[in-house]
Amino acid sequence: MLTQDEIKKLVAQQAVELVQNNMTVGIGTGSTIYWLIMELGERVKQGLFFRAIPTSKRTAALAAEQNIPLAELNDVTSIDITIDGADEIDPNLQLIKGGGGALLQEKMVAAASRELLILADETKLVKQLGKFPLPLEVIPFGWKQVQRKIKEVYHIEASLRIKDNQPFVSDHGHYILDCPFQQIENPDILSYDLNAIPGVVDNGLFVNMADLVLVGYGDGRTETLHR
Ligand code: 5RP
Repeated sequence: MLTQDEIKKLVAQQAVELVQNNMTVGIGTGSTIYWLIMELGERVKQGLFFRAIPTSKRTAALAAEQNIPLAELNDVTSIDITIDGADEIDPNLQLIKGGGGALLQEKMVAAASRELLILADETKLVKQLGKFPLPLEVIPFGWKQVQRKIKEVYHIEASLRIKDNQPFVSDHGHYILDCPFQQIENPDILSYDLNAIPGVVDNGLFVNMADLVLVGYGDGRTETLHR
């Protein structure tokens, strides 16, 4: 049986085949995407030319180490394909993302892309979204009001994400509230309602955004799921 890291590498090796010369490619964030960046670095050494739009400072730094040419989202009119990871994937390919705290930039890059491919190992597939606490990116000013509103409306305790004993701060200077919904019946409506709360910048539900999911299994099989 393959380890989780080996599965991540396997799907990254397959995904890299989709990157062609002169493409503009959105690159996600996380431990799965780490392997994608390594594979893309190898292709750059072999002469592949493309430009990458990174979804976080972490991804930008890793890509720069691999000599992958980078561009800003503002520099392009559209993106050919974005390849990213996810925290949960339901049977309709609706996603929870943001475990790495990069959800805002990931969503903006995905929204500008013709195609969104998600790489995952089988542990990310769920029947219903919600076991993974939904990340909510919030403005630090008055974040406790958002936390209270979530409790009042949904009867759950949203917890402020902490890193090194301090509030985790996103690349855009925001905090993250992790919301343990447990079961999300209607991701579309929830996403809309959450984003209507003053102080919420965005949430980690990616509704009708993923076109394809490439899943890797412990026995070395891979499978492509289509929306
Ligand atoms: C970061 C993300 C990641 O794609 C998600 O957390 C999955 O990460 P990993 O590949 O490390 O499991 O949304 O904000």
